[in-house]
Amino acid sequence: MKELSKEVKENRKPEYEINPLILNRWSARSIKDEEISDEKLMSLFEAAKWAPSSRNGQPWRFIYSKKNTKYWDTFFDFLTDSNKMWCKNAPVLIVIISRKNFEQDNQFSRNHSFDTGAAWENLALEATRIGLVAHPIGGFNVDKARRILEIPNDYEVEIMVAVGKRGEKEALSENLQQREFPNGRKPLKEIVMEGKFNI
Ligand SMILES: Cc1cc2nc3c(=O)[nH]c(=O)nc-3n(C[C@H](O)[C@H](O)[C@H](O)COP(=O)(O)O)c2cc1C
Repeated sequence: MKELSKEVKENRKPEYEINPLILNRWSARSIKDEEISDEKLMSLFEAAKWAPSSRNGQPWRFIYSKKNTKYWDTFFDFLTDSNKMWCKNAPVLIVIISRKNFEQDNQFSRNHSFDTGAAWENLALEATRIGLVAHPIGGFNVDKARRILEIPNDYEVEIMVAVGKRGEKEALSENLQQREFPNGRKPLKEIVMEGKFNI
């Protein structure tokens, strides 16, 4: 991806030059009520699986549901009311879980969530590259998701993700329309330190 989108150009000012794909990924909420192909959906998981992980343990697992299948309502029901408001059109909802112990020796992996977070970002960047929105969601009933999806206790339930094509901003409520733009970040001087912790 060579170009920044117009809205990203207007709203995001990197301090150093980076790949435009990274800046073009943002969590839009307006999603079209339109199917996406299995080919595209699977390419997102393909991107995710190439993330690095401690001892190449690959702790990430993805449970998905497509709109107009028997699973979608169940997934939608996990969401908080405020997330339901903008997720209602999403053609795909995903629950991302993470295996807490290594498969090799069943020892706890201190980095399992870190690894699964890297996989999530790969998924989101690939979605951006192929023109899709992938919006991460922490606001859902984790216990209910675990119970209904029969997720074993040796997996952490991490996040849900709404995936689909970008919709019109005007399709959102007034309140959400005001938040429908790529947001900024703290400056590097607030997050980067040389030598020791000194902020
Ligand atoms: C773990 C996690 C949980 C989040 N939960 C929600 C959520 O419940 N609802 C929502 O609308 N956005 C949620 N977000 C999106 C964040 O608000 C968003 O990523 C953040 O503001 C940075 O903006 P950007 O993703 O557009 O760059 C979540 C993001 C992450 C990484």
